[in-house]
Amino acid sequence: MSKTGKLPATRRATPRASLETIRRPVVLINMSLTVDGKIATANRRVSSFGSDQDQVHLYELRSTVDAVMSGARTVEAGAVDLDAGGARFEAMRRARGMAVQNLRVIVSGSGTLNPRAHIFRKRGSPLLLITREDADAGRLSRFTTRVDAVGRFGRGKLDLEAALKWLFEEWGVRRLLCEGGGELNGSLLKARLVDEVHLTVCPFIFGGNGAPTIAGGDVTHRLADAVPCQLKSIRGLRDELFLVYRVANATRRATLPP
Ligand SMILES: NC(=O)c1ccc[n+]([C@@H]2O[C@H](COP(=O)([O-])OP(=O)(O)OC[C@H]3O[C@@H](n4cnc5c(N)ncnc54)[C@H](OP(=O)(O)O)[C@@H]3O)[C@@H](O)[C@H]2O)c1
Repeated sequence: MSKTGKLPATRRATPRASLETIRRPVVLINMSLTVDGKIATANRRVSSFGSDQDQVHLYELRSTVDAVMSGARTVEAGAVDLDAGGARFEAMRRARGMAVQNLRVIVSGSGTLNPRAHIFRKRGSPLLLITREDADAGRLSRFTTRVDAVGRFGRGKLDLEAALKWLFEEWGVRRLLCEGGGELNGSLLKARLVDEVHLTVCPFIFGGNGAPTIAGGDVTHRLADAVPCQLKSIRGLRDELFLVYRVANATRRATLPP
């Protein structure tokens, strides 16, 4: 955390690497969705609807990664802290030889993130903010004492590939878990930066054209350009279905999943 009043360690975007040489973490997405594919109600008031079993599943997955990442609107939605989840899951991390707490990463391209969000009350592991190089300096200054480092990548559009490279090279992140929301997931998928998608299908139907899904934005307009997925595993537990899909078009990375 900066005590000088200046923004903490800041990185600029590096030129885009070729798809074959990109150095980035293995990227997983984990989301709960309804039977009709929604991740929240249209008014965004309900976005947490998985069972206790789903919550355990989330923490178990977190215990396998170096960093957990979410977009600004997700982080602002309630008591989100992106931490390891308590003693039981910290013990799992220790047993794997990992840091007791995962790094926490927030994506806010234009810096509109609410500086009063719950996540800033909880310290314990480094909190990183990823934003654009041309994000408003005044907005970003609100995070000077709230985050441990700011990574700035791309002008006009956030360069996610450069951001992942920064996490890999500067922060040692080899496995990264993205926990939404739809906008962040969609842009990672569109950039071919996702390796696996973990889904919990929950026994509800929300409906509503405006209710978000796991991938917001325009990922594609043609089936030929759709993100291809292969089913890796499926497990039913009471009324919920736990699915893992491998994303078949992910760009090559320097490290492979363990
Ligand atoms: N069911 C579930 O498992 C689940 C999980 C997570 C979230 N949710 C719900 O989903 C909803 C939020 O989803 P959402 O899609 O609206 O929001 P989101 O992806 O969480 O956040 C969107 C914001 O994050 C930043 N951002 C994301 N991707 C970016 C990119 N590629 N480039 C630059 N900035 C980027 C932007 O911040 P700036 O505006 O600052 O540029 C953007 O406005 C909430 O209701 C949340 O509770 C549900």
